[in-house]
Amino acid sequence: MEPGSSTLLTLLITLSWFHLAESLGTGLGLSPHMGWSSWNVKQCDSASAKYALDAADKFISLGLKDLGYEYINIDDCWSTKERDGSGKLVPDPVKWPNGIKAVADRIHDMGLKFGLYGCAGQMTCAEFPGSEGYAVSDVDQLVGWGVDFWKFDNCYTPCKVNPRPQTCPDPAGNTKTWYAPMRDAILAARARTASQIHFNLCNWGRDEVYKWGAQYGAQSWRISEDNYGDWASIERIASTAADITQYSGPGGFNDLDMLYLGSPKLNTRQERLHFGLWAILKSPLVLGLDLSNISASTLEIVTNRGIIEINQDPLGKPANTFRPPGGPEPVKGKIYPYWVGELKDGVVIGLCAGTAAGRYSLEFRDVPGLGRGWYEWTEMYTAQTGWGSGVSLDIGLHDMRVVKVGSFIFSTSNIPSRLSGPAGKRDY
Ligand code: GAL
Repeated sequence: MEPGSSTLLTLLITLSWFHLAESLGTGLGLSPHMGWSSWNVKQCDSASAKYALDAADKFISLGLKDLGYEYINIDDCWSTKERDGSGKLVPDPVKWPNGIKAVADRIHDMGLKFGLYGCAGQMTCAEFPGSEGYAVSDVDQLVGWGVDFWKFDNCYTPCKVNPRPQTCPDPAGNTKTWYAPMRDAILAARARTASQIHFNLCNWGRDEVYKWGAQYGAQSWRISEDNYGDWASIERIASTAADITQYSGPGGFNDLDMLYLGSPKLNTRQERLHFGLWAILKSPLVLGLDLSNISASTLEIVTNRGIIEINQDPLGKPANTFRPPGGPEPVKGKIYPYWVGELKDGVVIGLCAGTAAGRYSLEFRDVPGLGRGWYEWTEMYTAQTGWGSGVSLDIGLHDMRVVKVGSFIFSTSNIPSRLSGPAGKRDY
C-alpha cells in the first residue's frame, strides 16, 4: 500500500459510515418500503391523479394499509414535455387537474405517503424533462408539494454514443457522477426542511450501486434491469440478488423492482415464488399492478401477513442460499432450492421449486443458524405447522414454501436426527 493510502482508506471508510449513519438518522428505510407503483399498470397512462387516488382508496378498502403498504408512487410521464419559463417542472394539467400538492395532501390525510419519479439525464426514459442541471430546483418543488419518495432513473445520461440514447450501452463515466447533484440536493433538503424524502436509485444495478447507494443518501437501489412480469425476469433478478445480499440491510436495501403479480405471463405458483423470494430477500414490496382488477388469488398472496412480517423483520437481514448435504450445485441464472435468513425470533427457510416439482426436505441441523434439535415451524402459504428435527414438503413446479422456524424444543445432540412426521403430529 502506498504511504498515506491507509489514511485515505480510513477517511473513506469513516465517510461512508458517516453517510450511512446520516441515512439511518432520518429514520427512513429501516425496513424495506412497501407500496404501489403506477408503472406496470398502464405505463404513461397511469401516471395521473386518478390512478394515485384510486390506489390509495384500494389500500384502505383491501386492507393493504393495515398490513404496512404505505407509498403511492407515480412513475414516469406525470409532467408536461417541457419545463415552464422559469425552468420548473409542470404537472400535466390533464392528468393532475388540481396539481400535485392537492393529491399528496389527500394521500397524507389517509395516513399514506406519496412518491414521484425523475431521471438523472436530460430526459426521463419516456422522454419527459430530466433533472440534469435542475437538481436543486426540482427538489424544491418536491418539498413544496410534500413528496415523500423520489425514484431517480438513469436514461439519457452521459454516453459515448451521440446523440445520447435512451439507455446508454457505453456510458461516458460512472453513474455516481451524474447522481451526485441529486444526492446533494436531497441531503440539503433533508437538513434544511422537515422533508424526509426516501431516495430510490434506479440505475439498474450499474456501477455496483449496492456498494455506494447508502453513501448517496439512498434508502433503496435497483439492482437489475426491469421486471418484465415473466418467469425469465424472476429467475434473472432473484439470482442476481442472491449474490449481493451482504450489501442490503436497515438504512439501504437492494430493490429487486416492482412486484409484477397479476402479470398474464405468471401463473399462481410463480406469483407465490415471486412474492416469497422478494420478501425473504428483503426487497421493497411495491405492488406493480392494477388494484381495481386484482384477482382473489393474487390478493391472497400479497396480503399474506406472515410473509410480510418476515419482510419487515427488524433485523432486516436478507436470506441467502445454502447448500445442504446432497443439495444440488448452484446453476447460474436459475433459482436455487434452499434459502435461509435470520429473523429476530427464529429463522426463515425458503424452499423453491425453481427448476423441478417434488418433495423438498431439510434436516434443521443442516440449516445455517439452527442446531441439532427439534423445532416448531409454520409454513406461511399453507398455514401448515409442524415440529421435529426437519421439514419435508411437496412443492409444485415454480412454487415456493416459506417456513418460519421458531421455538427450539430440545436438543437431540445424542439422539440420531430424523425428519418430522406429518404436519402437526408429534413424531417421537
Ligand atoms: C425504467 C425503469 C422502470 C420505469 C421506466 C419508466 O428505466 O427501470 O422501472 O421507471 O424506466 O420509463
